[in-house]
Amino acid sequence: MARKKIALVGAGQIGGTLALLAAQKELGDVVLFDIVPGTPAGKALDLAEAAPVEGYNVSLTGGNDYSAIEGADVVIVTAGIPRKPGMSRDDLIGINSGVCKTVGEAIGKHAPNAFVIVITNPLDVMVWVLQQASGLPPERVVGMAGVLDSARFRYFLAEEFNVSVEDVTAFVLGGHGDTMVPLVRYSTVAGIPLPDLVKMGWTTQEKLDAIVQRTRDGGAEIVKLLGNGSAFYAPAASAIQMAESYLKDQKRVLPVAAHLSGQYGQDDLYVGVPTIIGAGGVEKIIEIELNDEEKAMFQNSVDAVKTLVDVVKKLDAEKS
Ligand code: APR
Repeated sequence: MARKKIALVGAGQIGGTLALLAAQKELGDVVLFDIVPGTPAGKALDLAEAAPVEGYNVSLTGGNDYSAIEGADVVIVTAGIPRKPGMSRDDLIGINSGVCKTVGEAIGKHAPNAFVIVITNPLDVMVWVLQQASGLPPERVVGMAGVLDSARFRYFLAEEFNVSVEDVTAFVLGGHGDTMVPLVRYSTVAGIPLPDLVKMGWTTQEKLDAIVQRTRDGGAEIVKLLGNGSAFYAPAASAIQMAESYLKDQKRVLPVAAHLSGQYGQDDLYVGVPTIIGAGGVEKIIEIELNDEEKAMFQNSVDAVKTLVDVVKKLDAEKS
């Protein structure tokens, strides 16, 4: 059986890390694409030269022509610019929406049967732009945000409780921005919901509130520390988990930016919700019951995403 093909559009910080992780997990042959001459070929060669040491049996190549992504089974998109200290994800919209449109059209032409994972920010609106431009069915175009946001939440909780990260589950809904909604009552340590852990005296409500806020600001915390870019290891690991679930039909329950067509009362909008990812792409969007406070927070997040979609539509109208 031929190996699967994984195309990485954008060979920067996240793209390079994606290539390493995909190779180490032997998910398939890896192709890197970028507009910067030499970069994708250079990174691919460097990673290929690590194969004898690391012991992965996949091919790694890179190029500056979209024919490189021909027939890919999975495409992961990081093309665009990352933010700098003081910038919000939304500040990237002007440049990155143009990039995502071009990339979407290229995927529609060269890899129409792929499962596409978008990472470029501002995430929820970029995946909307890319899906429209690609013409691919919405269940095969998703955005990576929820896995990363809930991983950050899980890490902070594991630190607070001094337990293994593996025993912490966390639930995050909504857009990938300051309005994201970490759902405390659906987050657990070994199945015990966080509000019960407060009652049991494991932590205080104040500490929990601070962790929720740190999760919302998780991306900005890294941007500030790095000084010249944004997070790349955890975003890459999160996207690879999504790709693996698709390629191996694992049917993992993962929060992703998925296309809503009526679910959660939203229409033609990409936003973070729990889904089942398998060979069919997004096989199911799980609609959980929200209380009034959670509904209000979710709506606030949805409104923020809608505002950005309107910005993109306006930019498009000005160009044409
Ligand atoms: N087509 C292909 N690649 C492009 C294009 C384009 N039109 N425009 C830019 N790129 C490439 C750049 O040349 C660069 O190599 O995208 C790559 C982006 O890499 P980095 O600048 O290192 O950014 P990275 O940290 O990988 O983040 C990429 O993901 O999390 C988001 O906010 C982040 O939007 C940013 C994206």
